[in-house]
Amino acid sequence: MKSQKVLFVCLGNICRSPTAHGVFEQLIARRALGLRIVVDSAGTANWHSGKAPDSRSIQAAHKRGYALNHLRARQVIVQDFDEFDVILAMDNSNLEDLRELCPSHFTGHLGLFLDFAKDRETEVPDPYHGGEEGFERVLDLVEDASEGLLAFLMDKKS
Ligand code: 4NP
Repeated sequence: MKSQKVLFVCLGNICRSPTAHGVFEQLIARRALGLRIVVDSAGTANWHSGKAPDSRSIQAAHKRGYALNHLRARQVIVQDFDEFDVILAMDNSNLEDLRELCPSHFTGHLGLFLDFAKDRETEVPDPYHGGEEGFERVLDLVEDASEGLLAFLMDKKS
């Protein structure tokens, strides 16, 4: 069975998209779907390439039982559109940047991650310049949307 490949994208790839990466990876591992769904994350900017996630993201995720420390930041590249079936932006600005990069032959799904959430928020707010509560909010939104995304991928496959 061909695996489905999901890419989470934010600006720096050190706060929001690695959080989504770690949370969704664990959700799949818990439900033994690791062989069918491949997860990665990237940033539209290259400022933090090669770096581990922000220590505040690692800490907040760790408190909820998610591991992010194995992840390393990278910039999104045009080849990602050939590699991934589902590419999800954390906010509208990330989505605009991705649309500019997106080749016309891309046939996958490009959209906002929170389209899969129950929460009425449409964007995962950037927590980088704020306090601890911003990182908790990212986790709340990411957990919500991850459940919806998993249901979408299961449905697509059946
Ligand atoms: P992220 O957050 O896009 O969720 O990884 C940010 C990380 C770094 C910066 C901005 C946002 N920065 O300006 O360096």
